[in-house]
Amino acid sequence: MNNLFDFAAKCLFTHSVEGKLAATHQAWQLHMAQQLCMESTDSPLPIANTAFPEKPEWLMPRDMPRRSLNTEAGKLAFFHALAHIEFMAINLAWDIIYRFRGLPPEFYSDWLRIADEEAQHFSLIRTHMLSLGVDYGDLPAHRGLWLQAEDTANNLLARLAVVPRCMEARGLDVTPAMIDKLKGMNDNAGVDILTRIYQDEIGHVERGSYWFKRLAIEQGQEPESCFAKLLLTYIGKPKGPFNREVRIIAGFSHNEIDWLEAGLHE
Ligand SMILES: [Fe+2]
Ligand SMILES: [Fe+2]
Repeated sequence: MNNLFDFAAKCLFTHSVEGKLAATHQAWQLHMAQQLCMESTDSPLPIANTAFPEKPEWLMPRDMPRRSLNTEAGKLAFFHALAHIEFMAINLAWDIIYRFRGLPPEFYSDWLRIADEEAQHFSLIRTHMLSLGVDYGDLPAHRGLWLQAEDTANNLLARLAVVPRCMEARGLDVTPAMIDKLKGMNDNAGVDILTRIYQDEIGHVERGSYWFKRLAIEQGQEPESCFAKLLLTYIGKPKGPFNREVRIIAGFSHNEIDWLEAGLHE
């Protein structure tokens, strides 16, 4: 029978964008047809083995060119950055599956569905970018997203705090303004894509919150203080303002958001 962790390795250890997308869709289809075994029979290879395409070139955040969304070049850079976030999100969803073994089957099926949704997000943005004359890889990309995966490779609670509950949750704060901006530019296709992504991402953050809380309690930790401690250790001061209404839907508690907001004023 097909094994989930073989698919995870297939996706993570190929350089090919197409290969990663194909492995992701195939694994999700097999899972839907109940033809995917979720038993782990091997141990994960180090995160340093993860393969990425030769392009885009990765730059440190400080070296990324700054462009305004108001110019044509800025709009291309914006969609390219978004494509990169979605591309890294595919790898991040597979990595949480691959690296952390022995968890309940629903954990794996949640992250497999998320991997497949990220692959859809990536493809939607890529198609839109191609219509504007740019492909993924034509511009440089932000190195930061994978650094956080490497930092949290040995700590599942830290991974959940940092990836879905910080990085993806940040997306919930900033996406509504991006959608408004694209509306103002009459980019209707862009508006539709971002609206779809926004809806799905609420679900990703919600799964992150659910598993964070459940696993923290299983480890005998109080989830809210554990979250605060991990965020300070791995990220430092949080960036706001925070979209309280949507973060609550995505599984944050009011206490957690109060704490995040207090951090802004320290
Ligand atoms: Fe996404
Ligand atoms: Fe996501």
